Amino acid sequence: MKFTLSPSLLSADFMILGEQIRRLEQCGIQNLHFDVMDGAYVPSISFGMPVLKSIRKKTKLVLDAHLMVLEPDRYVEDFRNAGADIIVVHAEACRHLDRTVTHIRQTGAKAGVALNPATPVSVLEEILPQLDMVLVMSVNPGFGGQTFLPYCTDKIRRVREMADLRNPALSVQVDGGVNRNTIQEVLDAGADNVVAGSAVFQGDMEANVAELLAFGEG
Ligand code: DX5
Ligand code: ZN
Repeated sequence: MKFTLSPSLLSADFMILGEQIRRLEQCGIQNLHFDVMDGAYVPSISFGMPVLKSIRKKTKLVLDAHLMVLEPDRYVEDFRNAGADIIVVHAEACRHLDRTVTHIRQTGAKAGVALNPATPVSVLEEILPQLDMVLVMSVNPGFGGQTFLPYCTDKIRRVREMADLRNPALSVQVDGGVNRNTIQEVLDAGADNVVAGSAVFQGDMEANVAELLAFGEG
């Protein structure tokens, strides 16, 4: 099954970020995953609007902003203005999820909701028809390079089933610990958008991308 591979820039080499993005474009990548961490919702701090804005000036690739931020409503406009095409917020970090999703859509961005591993799929029940994307976290958010939590595969399957009934166009993204050993099971479970950080940037990037994309052929 065809899928979108979304390299997570968290694992990029920021000294040569522009060059790495150009190389990803040449490999046929169409989507970049931009992990924003605030040091409060998650332990670590990453990068924010100014970095996204610089990237936007240099690439036409789809940019999805994964906001691991408390009360992300405060930053929706900023990330849209910086050039995000898709804005993904954590259900657990929003006081009023419907309000935030509506806000994202009003800016013209696509709206996504992320679920931590321990958050049940049932929190999506009412909001699902309003969404363009659901991000199923397969590690606890906060760091790249963690190990895939196997029980999340079944969550992907259940999100896909719910979407088939209520929002067939929904994109199901999986994020965390996806590599050559785990990608097949997430694709089989119904993910159509796969984030990969270390599995793309560690070692030979071109070879890594080719190997991962090959799982979508046939
Ligand atoms: C984790 C981030 C991920 C991370 C994935 O909080 O949301 O996007 O960069 O990295 P890997 O693919 O190395 O697990
Ligand atoms: Zn992410």
